Amino acid sequence: MSRISYVNGEYAPHQDAVVHIEDRGYQFADGVYEVMAVRDGFIIDLEPHLDRLDRSLAALSIAAPMSRGALRIVIREVVHRNLVRTGIVYMQVTRGVAKRAHAFPKDASPAIVVTSRSMASPSASAVNDGVKVITMPDIRWGRCDIKSISLLPNVLARQQATAAGAYEAWLIDSAGDVTEGSASNAWIVDAKGDLVTRHLGPALLGGVTRAAIVDACKAAKVKVVERTFSLKEALAAREAMVTSTTSFVLPVVAIDGKAIGRGADKGKAGPVYRQIRPLYEARVAAAIRAATSVASGGALQKAAAGA
Ligand code: PDD
Repeated sequence: MSRISYVNGEYAPHQDAVVHIEDRGYQFADGVYEVMAVRDGFIIDLEPHLDRLDRSLAALSIAAPMSRGALRIVIREVVHRNLVRTGIVYMQVTRGVAKRAHAFPKDASPAIVVTSRSMASPSASAVNDGVKVITMPDIRWGRCDIKSISLLPNVLARQQATAAGAYEAWLIDSAGDVTEGSASNAWIVDAKGDLVTRHLGPALLGGVTRAAIVDACKAAKVKVVERTFSLKEALAAREAMVTSTTSFVLPVVAIDGKAIGRGADKGKAGPVYRQIRPLYEARVAAAIRAATSVASGGALQKAAAGA
């Protein structure tokens, strides 16, 4: 089966899906994106992703390429046409095509691309035994809360992590504090036993998974503290974790080669991780159930959700 992608109003075979050479995304990285997880053919947290897309677009004064209703239909259609059960949707919106000049063009209309593909869930070894991270200076710009396609520092950081045999690079600001990972949010369990993740602000992306875990923890009465934490504190933490659409939540068992945790849990997934991972999985399972069983219109709803 050949892949189908959506580009500016058309569903096209993936190999023929092209954008113009003067698209401002190509020339200036003048655009934003979202990555959504697909499980059992359903898009997880579609609305929070669309909310964040709206926020990113508004921050850059890029017009929405279509109504939210139309966008939902396109996204589900792309998942459906590619028969994706477990995977991702990638969506990118740029300011559009215009003669190259830095200032915003007067008449460009936003360009949109939606692709979807199968992607395995994180491996059992990552989920059970954990992953390693390295650290690097955070050399990004001052608006990391915008999900911009300008990702060169993130790309370089992730490449360095990959070359070092690590899963992720944690980015450290000039004060020595952890901002986030190259493509994930960073968490620790501090000396008091509190689950900590950096507070929202321009230094990091407000992850949809981060928000889901904060909510799931609230519901389960697991205390979450949103504050800065330093690399020093992370190295001495009881536990560490990463969250993202593609990772869900994974335990971090080593930072810069130093095993994290204490006692029998040193270098292993810890008890707080083991408590919250099922909370997140239950949330995903409930979202899938809700999408399939709205009153008696299950089949209709399932079709609408792109299954
Ligand atoms: N990245 N921080 C950064 C810098 C990210 O790029 C991401 C996501 C996150 C986590 O956000 P969420 O939980 O909404 O996925 C945090 C995606 C997956 C990517 O670029 O592929």
